[in-house]
Parts: sequence; C-alpha cells; structure tokens
Amino acid sequence: MSGLFSSLRIRGVEFRNRVFVSPMCQYSSREGLANEWHMVHLGSRAVGGAALVVAEATAVSPEGRISPGDLGLWSDGHARALQPVAAFIKSQGAVAGIQLAHAGRKASTDVPWRGGKPLKEGEGAWETVAPSAVPFGYYPAPREMTIDDCESVVAQFVAATRRSLEAGFEVIELHMAHGYLLHEFLSPLSNLRADVYGGSLEGRMRFPLRVTEEVRRAWGERLPLFARVSATDWAENGWDLGQSVEFARRLKEVGVDLVDCSSGGLVPGAKIPVAPGYQVPFAAAIREQAGIATGAVGLITEARQAQEIIANGEADAVFLARAFLRDPYWALHAAKSLGAEAPWAVQYERAKD
Ligand SMILES: Cc1cc2nc3c(=O)[nH]c(=O)nc-3n(C[C@H](O)[C@H](O)[C@H](O)COP(=O)(O)O)c2cc1C
Repeated sequence: MSGLFSSLRIRGVEFRNRVFVSPMCQYSSREGLANEWHMVHLGSRAVGGAALVVAEATAVSPEGRISPGDLGLWSDGHARALQPVAAFIKSQGAVAGIQLAHAGRKASTDVPWRGGKPLKEGEGAWETVAPSAVPFGYYPAPREMTIDDCESVVAQFVAATRRSLEAGFEVIELHMAHGYLLHEFLSPLSNLRADVYGGSLEGRMRFPLRVTEEVRRAWGERLPLFARVSATDWAENGWDLGQSVEFARRLKEVGVDLVDCSSGGLVPGAKIPVAPGYQVPFAAAIREQAGIATGAVGLITEARQAQEIIANGEADAVFLARAFLRDPYWALHAAKSLGAEAPWAVQYERAKD
C-alpha cells in the first residue's frame, strides 16, 4: 500500500513523495519574465519538502496571459529567466514542473488585487480568442479562432515545450481546466464550432489532443507529461465526468502520464459544493475508469486526509495550493505528524526536533 511519503516513479523521474505544489498564478512578472519573487516563492516550497513544485500557469503567447502580470515562455529570454528557478528547485531534491497555458476568452484582465476585471481600452486590453465568439459572463466577446489561429497555438505550445526543456523543467502540466482555452474547446457551452474542432465529443477533444500529441513529441519520451482538467463544469449540458473519463483515456493514448483533476471555471456563477476534498471523487473515478494515474486537488489541507487519499488508491498524488501559501513547509510538518521521514535541508536540521 502506498503512503503519502512513499516515492513515485513516472517515466525517468523519481518523486520523493506524493505531495505536489499546485500551480498558482503570482501575477508578479513584467513582460512575462520570472524574477526574484518566483525564485523565493517556488524555491521555498522545494525547501519545504514537496516532491514536485509546479510553476504557475505560464502563457505560451502574450495574448494567452490572464493578466499583464502572468509568467510567460514565448521567447528564449523567458526560458533563461526561469532556468535558475528550476535549478534551485532541483538542488533541493524536488522536481521542477511548469504549467503551460493559454487563457483564451478569459485573457486580458487586471491582476486580482486591482479587481481582476477585464482590462479596458487605454488600460492595455488586448483582443481575446476562443473556439467560438461566446463571452465568459460579462467579459468582452472573444474572436472565433480560424484554423490558422489553431495551428499557431499548437506551434506556441510546442515552442514553449522546447523552452521548458532548456530551462530545466522535468514535468510539464498542460492547463486544460478552469475555463481557459483548451477547456473552452472541450466544453459544449463554449465550443459551438461547426468544423473539425467542434460538435461531437470527438470533435471537441480534437484540438486539445492535437496540442498534447505535439507537446509529447517535442518533450521526448523520458519526462512526465501531466494534464489538468476540470472534471465537470458544474453546469447543465456542460462538460462532465463521463466526458472527462473518455478524454483521460485518449490523453493516455497520446502520452499523458497523470491527470490532475480539478473542476469548474468555465461558466461564472456555477453552484459548486465546495467542501474538504470535494474533487477527490473525480480523481478516483478517472483513475479507476480510464486506467491512468491521477492527482487530487482542492481543499486538501490535513496530513491524515492526504495520506488517506493515497492509501485508499483514490489518487497517486495530492496537489495542494493554499495550504502551501499558509505554510511553505507543509510537507515537512505533514511528515512529522504521520511519523514519516522527510527531507530537511541540512542548513535547517538543528530545528528538526
Ligand atoms: C493564488 C492562486 C493562484 C492559482 N493559480 C492557478 C494556476 O496558475 N493554475 C491552475 O491550474 N490553478 C491555479 N489555482 C488553483 C489551485 O492550483 C488549486 O487548484 C485550488 O486553489 C484548489 O486547491 P487548494 O484548496 O489546495 O487551494 C490557483 C489558486 C490560488 C489560490
């Protein structure tokens, strides 16, 4: 039986335990570049004992950013800025991961602490793109992507994949959740296309699967590839668990190793039954029915809770977000409370007991 502090091997990469730091936008970049904030923020969670530290949603193009403060990877300079961050995470015994993203119709907003609303003209707003010209709530309507636009986005994901390799990352997570571009292709509520990328489930999955296939080709065979999905839109006639299971099977076929199971974000105002571990059943169902490794995420805050998710076989790893903001050393503290061995930095060993 696996425990939270048992190691996990995926392809050529060994994870020292099952505690993963979930990607979290920091909205602290200028022109998409990583800086000291990213080093301290991500680096301290690697010191804190997590096995995998995933850098925030990183835009594959400037117009794919949620806000002007997003991290990006659309030039070699962006890769160079991330390189020391990935190297430091690795030096602490953690695996460095990066989430590659395009925000689609939810791009071009202000940073959350200035309200997070769509930017206006004169505030640096840019045109957003999406599978169909259907707006997210009161946001401006996006422009429907042409087939050429789709090809450009594939090329941007591939280029960002090569740069992730150059920067030293060893896990890529494709962001297909939370109502951003790839999720917008999946959901019948945001994808009204009549061409090969719309219509049936097969049509709606086609573009995200094509991106995945090309990313896997550029990433090579040695390194793990994850995908984060919203297992349900929590909305009538939307994307749901059944479609997610089918999608996970197909992701596996094109080289995804682990599905990180989140939910929601496609429509504003969805009624979500938020409670401790409320998304864990999605990870369990996808793991069981699609036969692929999964990550559980969402209100996992306690060591024993995380331990049970792994021991019960509901997921192969847990992703924690806010608990790691409250306590960068969450993994070390969890290990202590479970009586497991954890990797303290030698510099800190005098504080261990
Ligand atoms: C500050 C912050 C930024 C986030 N940014 C991202 C992101 O870049 N990509 C993503 O997939 N999820 C993002 N999320 C969602 C988290 O990764 C996680 O799925 C969610 O917070 C639920 O987990 P938790 O209950 O452990 O916080 C963010 C959450 C927070 C709190």
